[in-house]
Amino acid sequence: MSIKYPVISPSVLSADFYNLKADFEVLKASGITFLHHDIMDNHFVPNLTYGYPVIKSLMKENDFNHDLHFMVENPDRVIPMYFELNPRSITFHIEACMHPQRLLSEIRKNGIKAGIALNPATSVDTLKYLLDDLDEILIMSVNPGFSGQKFISSVKKKIVECVEMVNNRDIYVALDGGVDNTNIKEFNEMGIDYFVCGSAAFRDRKISENILKLNQALGIN
Ligand code: DX5
Ligand code: ZN
Repeated sequence: MSIKYPVISPSVLSADFYNLKADFEVLKASGITFLHHDIMDNHFVPNLTYGYPVIKSLMKENDFNHDLHFMVENPDRVIPMYFELNPRSITFHIEACMHPQRLLSEIRKNGIKAGIALNPATSVDTLKYLLDDLDEILIMSVNPGFSGQKFISSVKKKIVECVEMVNNRDIYVALDGGVDNTNIKEFNEMGIDYFVCGSAAFRDRKISENILKLNQALGIN
């Protein structure tokens, strides 16, 4: 298992959309360097969020490592438009894409890290022949579409399988959904190096306190 410094990537979905600037300043002051964007199309998931123009503006003004999580059908149709924004990573769902290997290599060709997300019921075996084409695996520990849902405990078995499958490869294994300061340490010990935190980061708008608690739970000072 490759050991990496654990990353906390707050999900904008739980921020206050009327006060994004203020929320981002607090994140920066709390030492956060990654930001997770949930892009939903109301087809792949029953929710609709934001897309290209909003992300363009947010990226222009905020120097985070921006990670784009596409919960959309036919991701190959919409993702290429985001290449020029040069985000750190682009992740799409294996369940939504007919030709994942092609899309992963297109993303990489543009100098962007390529990731695949797995719904809670999707096996890690679907990635077996894609490991050479991947930089990240995003394990969904809730059904995608909303923040504030409860961690699905059967996903723990998948975490073990995924970490084992990735072994010593240079692939980040990320967890998205229901991660908070009561369970983050356990998942880190299981080999997860990248945590998407929505409600755990923005709860009650006590952002700096929340980030401090997550860092403390992980043992980061
Ligand atoms: C769910 C999204 C998540 C969500 C996580 O579809 O992919 O990124 O914002 O929110 P929490 O951490 O509250 O489960
Ligand atoms: Zn997400």
